[in-house]
Amino acid sequence: MAPWEILLLLLLGIHQLQCGTVTAWETTCSGAVPARQRAETISITEFGAVGDGRTLNTWPFRKAIYRIEHLRRRGGTTLYVPPGVWLTGSFNLTSHMTLFLARGSVIKATRDAWNWPLMDPLPSYGRGREFPGGRYKSLIHGNGIRDVIITGENGTIDGQGDVWWNMWRQRSLRFTRPHLLEFMHSRNIIISNVVFRNSPFWNIHPVYCSNVVIKSVTILAPHDSPNTDGIDPDSSSNVCIEDSYISTGDDLVAIKSGWDEYGIAYGRPSSGITIRRVTGSSPFAGIAIGSENSGGVSNVLVEDINIFNTGIGIHIKTNTGRGGYIRNITFLDVRMNTVRKGLRIAGDVGDHPDNKFNPNAVPVVNGVTIRNVWGVNVQQPGSIEGIKNSPFSQICLSNVKFWGVGKQYMSWKCMHVSGATSGVEPWPCAELARFPASGLCSNAL
Ligand SMILES: *[C@@H]1O[C@H](CO)[C@@H](O)[C@H](O)[C@H]1NC(C)=O
Ligand SMILES: *[C@@H]1O[C@H](CO)[C@@H](O)[C@H](O)[C@H]1NC(C)=O
Ligand SMILES: *[C@@H]1O[C@H](CO)[C@@H](O)[C@H](O)[C@H]1NC(C)=O
Repeated sequence: MAPWEILLLLLLGIHQLQCGTVTAWETTCSGAVPARQRAETISITEFGAVGDGRTLNTWPFRKAIYRIEHLRRRGGTTLYVPPGVWLTGSFNLTSHMTLFLARGSVIKATRDAWNWPLMDPLPSYGRGREFPGGRYKSLIHGNGIRDVIITGENGTIDGQGDVWWNMWRQRSLRFTRPHLLEFMHSRNIIISNVVFRNSPFWNIHPVYCSNVVIKSVTILAPHDSPNTDGIDPDSSSNVCIEDSYISTGDDLVAIKSGWDEYGIAYGRPSSGITIRRVTGSSPFAGIAIGSENSGGVSNVLVEDINIFNTGIGIHIKTNTGRGGYIRNITFLDVRMNTVRKGLRIAGDVGDHPDNKFNPNAVPVVNGVTIRNVWGVNVQQPGSIEGIKNSPFSQICLSNVKFWGVGKQYMSWKCMHVSGATSGVEPWPCAELARFPASGLCSNAL
């Protein structure tokens, strides 16, 4: 053995000891944001909060956070939420704080939707996602802040979304529903060991953010709850999502970057997104990119994913009018059990903010590698349907195997696409060459 080999073994051995395991070689991106210990802890009860599930605690939360913001203790402050049910309206976080939810604590949204605060639409969307005009502020909101941690002992943030879902079903909403948690223009954020439940709309929405770690979270909403996406990184960079369980009524994770002409004008991409060791179930997509991709989406790594009872396992979706691009996307080691469709890459998905979108603004989809996908009980294997004026290119599939329920569905559908495949079953389509003979995708093996 060469000296460098011995050194390597020693280093690896030390690493194993530190991790307390001899078998798992877990890679992680969560170190991207340092987990700070705070110098000071205050409890929400010091601000008059009552955890009886009936008292409205919006002012205690706002006062506590005002105190953290203005006293500015060196090293920051932890706001401790003890066991109990803490009913509240929307409140804003501030920099250098940790929101700590103890075991048995529930931060519960008020059902008073009528007095919910409104805010401006996002510039990259031009309007609320659901309705023209403004949108409701998220239950927990951060704008222009940094060094924020939301963590604890798996306490719950409960959106009581059924009030909002019913308004959506009855068509009585006037503005876009609130997210459960939204960060805008913020950086160095950690969200870990928290349960998110029954969000009115998307659960976790980092937008115009960088350095965001979301780890060991559980996100739950009924499968029939409308648009309760799990995590939507939007026009954000360096986002790490790991070790989480998500079961909701819409896409588990959907990477976005703004909507048609507004997203193109704002021009803020999503890039450097890692999604690893996520398990979940949804009537829509497991892991999605788009359909709002107008600022561009690139450098995405999705790996070691388990998807069950889901509509579409992997869904890359865009539309004419979006512009932007989707490139350098890698999916590795995805297991599926009972899905309607294994893989869909499509250029005709989603609606437009208004009729001012440019029909010539076609998105570019280039460089999608999908390797080691294993699906059982898959009704339809997949489809890759590009856009006529903008064929999807360098689409590389290797070792992708789907076993279906019905033979009549066991064929792929492809058009306006180029790329190559190897070891794909059932055999995909003539549009995609076989590699390595084709020379295409040789670096994707
Ligand atoms: C909370 O943040 C929103 C949006 O960023 C802002 O408009 C509002 O004034 C803030 N509210 C408080 C109480 O600071
Ligand atoms: C919280 O839940 C996660 C995910 O289920 C689990 O890995 C973690 O150990 C739990 N943490 C605590 C402090 O109970
Ligand atoms: C492609 O994305 C990966 C992350 O998935 C990144 O490590 C790599 O540098 C990117 N490649 C290019 C050419 O940007």
